[in-house]
Amino acid sequence: MTADPGLFETIHSLRAMRRLKPDPVPDEMIRQIIEAGTCAPSGQNLQRWSFLVVTDAEGKQFFGERYHYWLRNRFANTIESIDPASSDGRVMNSALYLGEHMHEAPVLLFCCGKRDWPFVVPQAARVGLAPPSYGSIYPAVQNILLAARGLGLGASLTTMHQMFEPEMQAFFGIPEEWGVVAVIPIGFPLGKFGPVTRAPAPTKTHFNRWGQGKPGLAAPDG
Ligand SMILES: Cc1cc2nc3c(=O)[nH]c(=O)nc-3n(C[C@H](O)[C@H](O)[C@H](O)COP(=O)(O)O)c2cc1C
Repeated sequence: MTADPGLFETIHSLRAMRRLKPDPVPDEMIRQIIEAGTCAPSGQNLQRWSFLVVTDAEGKQFFGERYHYWLRNRFANTIESIDPASSDGRVMNSALYLGEHMHEAPVLLFCCGKRDWPFVVPQAARVGLAPPSYGSIYPAVQNILLAARGLGLGASLTTMHQMFEPEMQAFFGIPEEWGVVAVIPIGFPLGKFGPVTRAPAPTKTHFNRWGQGKPGLAAPDG
């Protein structure tokens, strides 16, 4: 097992690791990862999350085929026109690689949230199924990604399942009152962890009033 890299190094190197080895991931690691997810905060501490661990070939094949189909369908125009050497092109290549190999990922972790209307939707307007409570699940999803990185495992957040959600819920027996927020393929990484590429934090920071800067802290660019 890779030694725990420490919190800030973990955060700074938490890239989407889409190229995974086929080697199985020990159950104990999966347990630790899910436990980290369940340490996350949730509204009123209701913990309305549930996790489905998929490792069987049939389940992964079902998911992988549809994920790959919809990825190519949804991004058909981009795939045709993008420069593969550009940074967007590299992200697309990596996403396509994952699409092709999704069924080979050792573990697919489905992060599910109870369907719950946001406060802002008035009672009278609440018809049909509510969306899953994304805000209550994403902290758990981020903890899961951090825990995987801490254990030296590659993982990436994916949401393309939204394109085939009803069929997927039926196949895996996920009840209607639960929604799948993210599906995280997990395995030992083929490549190396490295720093994330992001705009400098001060360009995203305002001080006291929107648009105001402060040397060394805030230099908002929009
Ligand atoms: C809400 C959300 C949805 C995402 N959906 C997908 C997805 O469906 N497939 C995928 O390959 N990556 C997906 N990603 C990962 C992003 O593409 C990735 O984090 C981003 O390009 C930055 O890359 P990096 O994490 O390697 O630095 C998603 C990320 C977020 C936050």
